[in-house]
Amino acid sequence: MLNKQTTVGVAGASGYGGAELLRVLHDHPAFEVGVVAGGTTAGLPLSEVFPHLRDDTPLVASLPGSFDGCGLVFLATPHELSASLAPALVDAGIRVVDLSAAFRLDSSTFEQWYEMPHPAPGSTPAVYGLPELFADDIPAAQLVANPGCYPTAALLALLPLRDLVVPESLHIAGLSGTSGAGKGLRDDLHVTHASNNVAAYGAPSHRHTPEIEQAWNRLTGARSAVTFTPHLVPMPRGLLCTVTADLLADVDADQVRQAAEKAYQDSPFVTVVAAGRWPSTTHLRGSNGAALGVAVDPRTRRVTASCAIDNLGKGAAGQAVQNANLMFGLPQDAGLSAVGVYP
Ligand SMILES: NC(=O)c1ccc[n+]([C@@H]2O[C@H](COP(=O)([O-])OP(=O)(O)OC[C@H]3O[C@@H](n4cnc5c(N)ncnc54)[C@H](OP(=O)(O)O)[C@@H]3O)[C@@H](O)[C@H]2O)c1
Repeated sequence: MLNKQTTVGVAGASGYGGAELLRVLHDHPAFEVGVVAGGTTAGLPLSEVFPHLRDDTPLVASLPGSFDGCGLVFLATPHELSASLAPALVDAGIRVVDLSAAFRLDSSTFEQWYEMPHPAPGSTPAVYGLPELFADDIPAAQLVANPGCYPTAALLALLPLRDLVVPESLHIAGLSGTSGAGKGLRDDLHVTHASNNVAAYGAPSHRHTPEIEQAWNRLTGARSAVTFTPHLVPMPRGLLCTVTADLLADVDADQVRQAAEKAYQDSPFVTVVAAGRWPSTTHLRGSNGAALGVAVDPRTRRVTASCAIDNLGKGAAGQAVQNANLMFGLPQDAGLSAVGVYP
């Protein structure tokens, strides 16, 4: 058992991502939560916002100085706030894992898709924190940009296909539960609308599209655009991305399965389901796991790869803690051994 040797802060502790961070960190062997920060909830005890956490610690304002004494801060905040907090924290010598999109993209792509100035133009100050792809870059990082929920599932499905498919041929369908949009009230998230309803949204210009493209192009060396269509589904949490792509000549089903199994043979979190089966979000709920299924259609010579995660787990808070573990030289599954909550 490790000592709780690092004090951490959580900004956005009164949001869905923050709540899940605090739940995961509750039993973490090395990180002790010392500061919880909110916005409109500053001043309230955490237990008033999230009774399930059974913690009366008062929320403080999300200001850089609030985190003095922390070795690490998780930012579970909107990208505008992360963009201002992260540089100040890093300047103060505090390492940061940012769950927002503020540091995931190169500056011109960010400005094009998010319509605001990049917080650190002209440089790439953050490491893209998808450990299954870029684990070597994370341990030395001062600032880790935690991937988006859809890009996490899409890229975990794509990684084994990097040398097997035509890079430009990707079609990705994403399905997310309503917590993916955060706790704010919106007409399309109202239970009257969202229950008993499924609909596409945001296509073809959802902001996670360039994030998937950027990582895929880095993996393949291509300069391809992807088609990404997200859907909102009536469940509180859970996310699935299903990728289809053209196989390169001579690639067969056995090669695809072997590539998937090889890619994740040492992964503590990603499992490949047996041939003929497909992953379900319900088996990942509350865990940092991801499940991947693959199949080849010999008629069309296309491959289907489907990856299920918990959007708040591997798609947000779980992955953020996985990144923090790597940054602090801990086993990447420290505090993350929980299996899914089922049924
Ligand atoms: N939800 C997901 O599945 C998911 C997955 C991956 C990444 N993310 C990203 O994670 C971040 C948080 O998402 P979320 O779903 O947790 O959002 P959320 O439920 O809406 O929570 C947002 C949090 O940010 C705080 N906040 C908002 N504006 C603030 C301000 N001006 N000053 C201080 N605090 C402020 C809120 O505090 P108060 O409530 O106290 O005002 C709340 O704690 C976002 O960048 C999101 O894109 C979310």
